[in-house]
Amino acid sequence: MIKSGGMVLVRQIGYALVPMIARGVMLGADQPVILHMLDIEFAAEALKGVKMELIDAAFPLLKGVVATTDVVEACTGVNVAVMVGGFPRKEGMERKDVMTKNVSIYKAQASALEAHAAPNCKVLVVANPANTNALILKEFAPSIPEKNISCLTRLDHNRALGQISERLGVQVSDVKNAIIWGNHSSSQYPDVNHATVKTPSGEKPVRELVQDDEWLNGEFIATVQQRGAAIIKARKLSSALSAASSACDHIRDWVLGTAEGTFVSMGVYSDGSYGVPAGLIYSFPVTCSGGEWTIVQGLPIDEFSRKKMDATAQELSEEKALAYSCLA
Ligand SMILES: NC(=O)c1ccc[n+]([C@@H]2O[C@H](COP(=O)([O-])OP(=O)(O)OC[C@H]3O[C@@H](n4cnc5c(N)ncnc54)[C@H](O)[C@@H]3O)[C@@H](O)[C@H]2O)c1
Repeated sequence: MIKSGGMVLVRQIGYALVPMIARGVMLGADQPVILHMLDIEFAAEALKGVKMELIDAAFPLLKGVVATTDVVEACTGVNVAVMVGGFPRKEGMERKDVMTKNVSIYKAQASALEAHAAPNCKVLVVANPANTNALILKEFAPSIPEKNISCLTRLDHNRALGQISERLGVQVSDVKNAIIWGNHSSSQYPDVNHATVKTPSGEKPVRELVQDDEWLNGEFIATVQQRGAAIIKARKLSSALSAASSACDHIRDWVLGTAEGTFVSMGVYSDGSYGVPAGLIYSFPVTCSGGEWTIVQGLPIDEFSRKKMDATAQELSEEKALAYSCLA
């Protein structure tokens, strides 16, 4: 069976993402894909160029490309929808103005997905404010199960693994079970209390190996929280290849499952686990199996973590209120 590979866009993240999908990075090396790419009229010509490049690359797994500015055509029959398009905050704009623009984009895309996507379509919202855009999408696509709507915090999760690997001089593939709690914003809480590193003498807790709680509770957290801004400062553009790669990790683990004993971070609809208010899209530690995610339960939460988890939940509640006020 051929799986449609979702809605992606032509510029930064979209441009990095499409070859990854077409090469099997997202859905597996034996999964043929059809790519549906959506952009706005303004970018229609560039979108055509991306389609030409995809054809020229002769990807063996790529069985079709739809490049369109019609949201219905883009959504029709897709099994996986990666939502990269959004309205960026520009100089002088109020938060409410940006939210109003994004609410209207996500409302329209939700309706198109609800009416035209394949049953059981999995949705990943990347565009910021990612958690709240996902929540709006959920509100306006009530027949899509809430379990099928998520937002990207895997990039933050991977950034946390990367920082630990750099600090300890170990392979990033030997570090696991960091957690991003909450919002994909600078209020997120990167938590390594349950993270481990594979060593020749077995798995060891990150805290035991780093032996510097001051760094882990201070600079490490700030570095992960501010990494997006640091990339913009250095590259004069926001993160694109790492966001695209993390989007592939997110979908791959969701569809194909997480390794035994490994959890990852996903922004998902809160059921009240860990005292997080129900009804927010909040990043939790999850395991995936059989195409479903499950929040990891029973992790001990200390007072330091509690405060940070509550602060990012508070920010999400405020964003939710702002989004609803834009709808009114
Ligand atoms: N969640 C994360 O980890 C993460 C990481 C990096 C960036 N982001 C966010 O991802 C988004 C995309 O980033 P980028 O650097 O690729 O931006 P970009 O500006 O290069 O690409 C966005 C694309 O969306 C298109 N677009 C705008 N409105 C649209 C609409 N209504 N329908 C369809 N397409 C539309 C634009 O034409 C453009 O091609 C931004 O919101 C960014 O803040 C999220």
